[in-house]
Amino acid sequence: MNIQPENIKILHIDSNHPVLWQQLEEAGFTNEADYTASKEQIEAKIAGYNGIVIRSRFDIDRAFLDKAENLQFIARVGAGLESIDCNYAMQKGIHLIAAPEGNRNAVGEQALGMLLSLFNNLNRADRQVREGHWNREANRGHELEGKTVGIIGYGNMGKSFAKKLRGFDAEVLCYDIKPGVADANARQVTLEELQQRADVLSLHTPWTPETNKMVDADFINAFSKPIWLINTARGKSVVTKDLAEALQSGKILGAALDVLEYEKSSFEHLFTDGDIPAEFQYLLTAENVLLSPHIAGWTFESHKKLAQVIADKIKAVYSGEPKAAEQEKKVTGIGGFFFKSENPAALKEWYNKHLGLNTDNYGCTFWWIDENGKKASTQWSPFAADTKYFEPSQKQYMQNFRVHNLDALLEKLKQEGVTIVGEPESYDYGKFAWITDPEGNKIELWEPIDEAFL
Ligand SMILES: NC(=O)c1ccc[n+]([C@@H]2O[C@H](COP(=O)([O-])OP(=O)(O)OC[C@H]3O[C@@H](n4cnc5c(N)ncnc54)[C@H](O)[C@@H]3O)[C@@H](O)[C@H]2O)c1
Repeated sequence: MNIQPENIKILHIDSNHPVLWQQLEEAGFTNEADYTASKEQIEAKIAGYNGIVIRSRFDIDRAFLDKAENLQFIARVGAGLESIDCNYAMQKGIHLIAAPEGNRNAVGEQALGMLLSLFNNLNRADRQVREGHWNREANRGHELEGKTVGIIGYGNMGKSFAKKLRGFDAEVLCYDIKPGVADANARQVTLEELQQRADVLSLHTPWTPETNKMVDADFINAFSKPIWLINTARGKSVVTKDLAEALQSGKILGAALDVLEYEKSSFEHLFTDGDIPAEFQYLLTAENVLLSPHIAGWTFESHKKLAQVIADKIKAVYSGEPKAAEQEKKVTGIGGFFFKSENPAALKEWYNKHLGLNTDNYGCTFWWIDENGKKASTQWSPFAADTKYFEPSQKQYMQNFRVHNLDALLEKLKQEGVTIVGEPESYDYGKFAWITDPEGNKIELWEPIDEAFL
């Protein structure tokens, strides 16, 4: 965005690690804090600000956004943006900034810690020893080696947990509604396969209409074995009553819950009136249940990392002329040259023999160094003549462009009325989306993941 930080006024409505304030100040932004005013009071003055930094104090809904006439960005110092009406904000051209990179390691570590604690009965054993009991046999543990861990939702948090599981000699499966999200640490499978094979289920999905009450009695009973459940995602994805029943029947062997169905989005006290539901009362007394107050992402390290990620992302939005010019360029190179061929195998052989192209299943990868000195690649690929990959285009060729920031570009293309084909997809080598030009040529847009190419 080509506006100087000096002209940007930011309202911080939650306190964060000081690094955020300091760095924004050093970059020239004007910071103001209001940690106590009510939502209505903030609404009354929000028109005077260009940016808002929030954690979880209140929801940013349509009514709020209508009053925020000059808002250019909303930065949430946390992983998810569920407390914000994202569609409406995007319609208004407001940048949405979150920082899952800042707490994913913490969540991965806590999920692992909870699992090991459950497997080894550590909380129960600790309590018993303090009470003077020395019960070794009753506290015999389980090992992770040889077990199958099923992760649902393979984004920032799911991937971080899978990374932590390396070295345990467990099989890690993931299920995600997006295709192609797997990496070296988990194999993507259908939900049915995950339910067939998993010994452990760990949830890492956002709270959406589909994941609301996702883990209910039917869902639990669809697992072929008794399972351990870990939920560090969102409390409302698990029906506590059904969980309590499954714990009683033995279908769930143990549960570790960092998030609860009853918690408020603003993380206030759970039950103000003392009216504790019977099923939660059961969890409170169950020995194979481990509870924590939504702290998986809440470490000393993540406190600072979250603030740093947000500072970097806000600064990137206003990073001035050179970046703006770069942003204008949007496409950073040709990512692929794809064409239909009558006989791809024979053609590849011909190119190999006469032009020395080293081809694999897909074709040939050309490596080059981009203008920032980073390794980049372009793929040359003949496709079978009857490929559906070029659809809806009927042309012989398809282009692939490397881009800087696919999400931002897509947002802009949508606003400009460009035809977008299907939904974006993520793979371990980058994010992809497809558009067509006015002549019906299909263009694949590719934001490579650097690490995959280093
Ligand atoms: N306990 C904590 O302190 C803490 C901290 C950070 C994040 N979280 C929570 O962790 C969850 C994941 O966060 P993230 O940053 O990894 O999100 P993400 O967007 O990076 O990843 C979520 C993944 O879930 C997938 N998904 C969405 N709906 C699905 C469905 N119905 N079935 C299967 N997969 C589905 C998405 O395609 C995506 O790949 C969120 O609920 C977030 O709020 C909790």
